[in-house]
Amino acid sequence: MTQTAVDSTESLLDVERLRADFPALAQTVNGRPLVYLDNAATTQKPISVIEAVSRFYREDNANVHRAIYQLGERATRAYEGARGKVADLIGAPERSIVFTSGTTEAINLVAYAWGRHNLGPGDEIVITAMEHHSNLVPWQLAARDTGATLRHIPLTDDNLLDLEAARTVIGERTKMVALVHKSNVFGVVNPVAEITALAREVGALVLLDAAQSAPHLRLDVQELDCDFLAFSGHKMMGPTGVGVLYGKPQLLEAMEPFLGGGEMISSVNLTESTWNEIPWKFEAGTPKIAQAVGLGAAIDYLEEVGIDRVTAYLGQLSDHARQVLSAVPGVTLFTPAGGSSVFLFNLEGIHPHDLAQLLDQEGIAVRAGHHCAQPAMAHLGVAATARASFYIYNTFEEIDRLAEGLEQARRFMSG
Ligand SMILES: Cc1ncc(COP(=O)(O)O)c(C=O)c1O
Repeated sequence: MTQTAVDSTESLLDVERLRADFPALAQTVNGRPLVYLDNAATTQKPISVIEAVSRFYREDNANVHRAIYQLGERATRAYEGARGKVADLIGAPERSIVFTSGTTEAINLVAYAWGRHNLGPGDEIVITAMEHHSNLVPWQLAARDTGATLRHIPLTDDNLLDLEAARTVIGERTKMVALVHKSNVFGVVNPVAEITALAREVGALVLLDAAQSAPHLRLDVQELDCDFLAFSGHKMMGPTGVGVLYGKPQLLEAMEPFLGGGEMISSVNLTESTWNEIPWKFEAGTPKIAQAVGLGAAIDYLEEVGIDRVTAYLGQLSDHARQVLSAVPGVTLFTPAGGSSVFLFNLEGIHPHDLAQLLDQEGIAVRAGHHCAQPAMAHLGVAATARASFYIYNTFEEIDRLAEGLEQARRFMSG
């Protein structure tokens, strides 16, 4: 990032300077500057991340942990250095950080390696009605395979977690409470302290899906007091193909492996094997080396911008978005008050897919569909919605262009 991208005298980021770090943002679509508003799906990458991955392949590429030669040692240092950056980012010890391919694999790891060995008939897993499918389907499979029961915390009419109901859903039989920290459909940060307190009362574990919160908020796993936390590199300016599972070390140590193969063993004979220490026990095969290095560079970038500034700026953008979007006639906004950086909406008389196509003609990229959260759509009573989601390089003007695009789409459809 350029030194001046953060102006310390103002609360706002110097977004124009910061945008220069993201080559993909400089393009035009149909002759109009690209307005990229699908950041909850994936974020764009700054040059420093692209360069870090490229530099790794050009200068340091070798397999990790096994090589006795200098190149291999450099690759190992780069990979383990990235683990250190992740650990510092969330206030965790390095051995509690497992590199996975993303949030989805991290949650599956827990659902298999913990779930299959610790759940049985009579036990209950509690999720919420606003989960992304990646924190729902793995638990459906775990319940099916173990005879455990899957329960959920319902939503209120305001699209928030129903805390009253949570008090009855979480009970003596609950063994795991797995919930989304910041929702990819409603933009709300869930009251995880309250939910965790309920889980602790009954001795249940807590897993947080931090896919949306890690890019937006400063997270500290000690403060959150969660047992597991999962997030994806590509939603926080890192490369695709790498994500993180944090687990309390004593839990990871007690767990069986997830995948078997190289790297994760201590010794192997033809009938049985013993396991490597954590975190490597959960990193079977050649790991995501270049991707982890890229994630390390993304964390450096995020820290340089300042995560607290990111949170504040996204809050300002969101206040503006709420104002201008709700002023467009025919718009139904599903994002509750307090929801930030993710705006879920429909425009009367237009299917969200058609709307997304019309906006695309104006160079505006928004998501349309169920956003991998079909139970949340069922709660809203719709099959699909449009979604605009922001990140640090989005501007107030881009949100105005979205509102203009919606106005145009409305005029186009009405005739
Ligand atoms: C809240 C939430 N959880 C999980 C995921 C899955 O992440 P990934 O596809 O990177 O594994 C997403 C992705 O959209 C998400 O928004």
